[in-house]
Formats: sequence, C-alpha cells, structure tokens
Amino acid sequence: MRPSKNSSALDAMVGDLKAVASPLRAYFSDLYDKYASLQEGNLANYIPELSRADPSAFGLSLVTVTGQVFVVGQAEQLFTIQSVSKPFVYGLALEDHGREEMLRHVGVEPTGDPFNSFTRLERADGKPFNPLINAGAIATTSMIKGDGPAARFNRLLDMLARYIGHPVPVDMPIFTSERATGHRNRAIAWFLMNCGHLGGDLDEALDLYFKQCSVLVTGKDLAMMGATLAAGGVNPMTGERALQQEYVQDLLSVMYSCGMYDYSGEWAYRVGLPAKSGVGGGICIVIPGVCGIGTFSPLLDPRGNSVRGLRALEQFSTDYKLHVFNSADSYQKLRAAITGRALVV
Ligand code: DON
Repeated sequence: MRPSKNSSALDAMVGDLKAVASPLRAYFSDLYDKYASLQEGNLANYIPELSRADPSAFGLSLVTVTGQVFVVGQAEQLFTIQSVSKPFVYGLALEDHGREEMLRHVGVEPTGDPFNSFTRLERADGKPFNPLINAGAIATTSMIKGDGPAARFNRLLDMLARYIGHPVPVDMPIFTSERATGHRNRAIAWFLMNCGHLGGDLDEALDLYFKQCSVLVTGKDLAMMGATLAAGGVNPMTGERALQQEYVQDLLSVMYSCGMYDYSGEWAYRVGLPAKSGVGGGICIVIPGVCGIGTFSPLLDPRGNSVRGLRALEQFSTDYKLHVFNSADSYQKLRAAITGRALVV
C-alpha cells in the first residue's frame, strides 16, 4: 500500500482530528483497514486475566513532537502497559543511579532469547543482559529510589504520568492475577538476589514490577510516551520534562536493540526504529525528532509481539522509508505527509 494522494478533506477525517488536513490521516485509515481484518495470533493466557481481551480490538495513534495527533480505531481503549513500561522505568533508574551504576547491575546486550528466559543468567553471574527482558526489568525496578513501597510506586506512577500528560490507573485484577501466577518472575528475583543484583526486599520489588506492568494506558498514551522521547524527554502537550535529556539516547538504544524480545534483531533490520512491545497488545515506537507511535491489538505472535501492530508498522516503515539507516532524507516524506506540504526533491 502506498500513501494515499488524492483523498478529500472529508475522506481524510479519521478519529481525533484536531489538526490540518493531512495525507497521513488517509494513509492511517487505509493502514487500519488493511490490518483490522488480520486474524493471526493469540491472546496472552499465561496471565489469566489477559485472556479476557477483545481479539478484534485494533488502534493506531501517532503524536508529533509539535503535538499533532493522528488516531484511528480503538486508540482510546485501555489495556495494561506490561513490558512497554520497562524502558521508561529504566529511565527513572538511570536518573536515580546514573549510567555507570546501572551498567554494573544490568547490561545493555540483546539476548535473542524469549522475554522470560533466564538460561543465560547463571552464566553471567546473575547480571541480566538488558533492562527489557524480565530479569533486567525486575532488577531495574528493584533499584527505584523512594522512602518505602508506596513512595516508590508513586514515583513510578508520577514518571509515567509525565510522559502521558495525565495520571494513570492500575488494573488491580491484572496485578493480582500476575502476582498469583508469576512464579517464573519470582524464581528470577530469587536468583538476582542470590547474585547481588536485586535492590531491597524481594516481595516488594516483585509487587512493584507487577504493578508497573498493570498500569492502564491507551494506544494514544503510548504514542504520547513515544513523542516525549522523540522530543528529547519533554511531553509535547504539557511541556513537562519526563526524562533528563542525557538519558533519552540510552532508552532509545536499548529499545532499538532489545525492545521486541527475540524479534529485536529482525525488527531492527526490517523496521529500523526504537520500539517496545508488551503482552497487553501495545507497541510504542519512537521516530526521533518527529513523532511517537502507539499501536494496540491484543492478538500476539509466539514471541509476545502484537501481530497487527507489527505488520502495520512494518508496512508504515517501508512506505515512508522510516528505517534509521535508510538514507539521509529518511524523514522527509513523513514530514511532508504530516504537514500536507509537497515533498521537495
Ligand atoms: O513479566 C511478565 O510476564 C509481564 N508482566 C510482562 C511481560 C511482557 O509484557 C512481555 N511482553 N512481550
């Protein structure tokens, strides 16, 4: 599919239309239509509550660094953020401890393993390979500073709220479901503690990790979070800083190399953008300096990535030449579509 060229302003009106008519709106509408009918994948069922999601749900959202919003489909439907929280919590831990201290406890190497694997952990003396696999995320969460469990949780929620621009609720049934069934994460936490890579109390660290995964967001929220990173750590709507500028590149680096679990290499090869997926069905993508994208669809592939999200984004990246290594003029076509201005070649 190529970006639409001759759509009328009315045809281009999709979802939350606040900005000028733009070819990107029509393109997003076409992209949604193409992948909404895709029925591949399964709902996550290893956390019992997640299997209640609506398999037909699908939404695409894009927020630019200047605050333009493009949405189509179920962009406002709430779902749990799950692993999409991981890079953002890593950012908070970086602010708390600095780069070198974090690197002492959590590496930045991709594993090529499933997100919940810990086969490499013993051989690495218990130091997780990166902050986006479960072992690294649990270690990272355990390092968040605060005067007691409630203060740490509030700091985490406040951080997410700064990225999103409003307070975020927690899905307590999902939290309870995860806490009751997360034996594998518990095993990982014990091993981290054994090796000196778990900060603080084990049960408290796990509760905080399960809570961060149970935060409710929309696809539009994920786009806003991505846009905040794309804008150097400042929320484009509120103007509030969510992350110190110096750490933005750290988050984007781990998202680029490790954000899609054991599909990260192929994602980097095919799509070429920093991104993070979660088993709730969300994906957050960052196009540095331009925009954030949030997709939501709960049907997952065997690796835990949203099938419709993955396919739509692969298509979007191809059509708009978004791969970071594509060429010097990588983002010109996208900028032209956002503003509706003709592409100057
Ligand atoms: O640790 C877990 O199992 C979940 N709370 C988070 C996992 C997740 O989202 C992995 N995603 N692809």
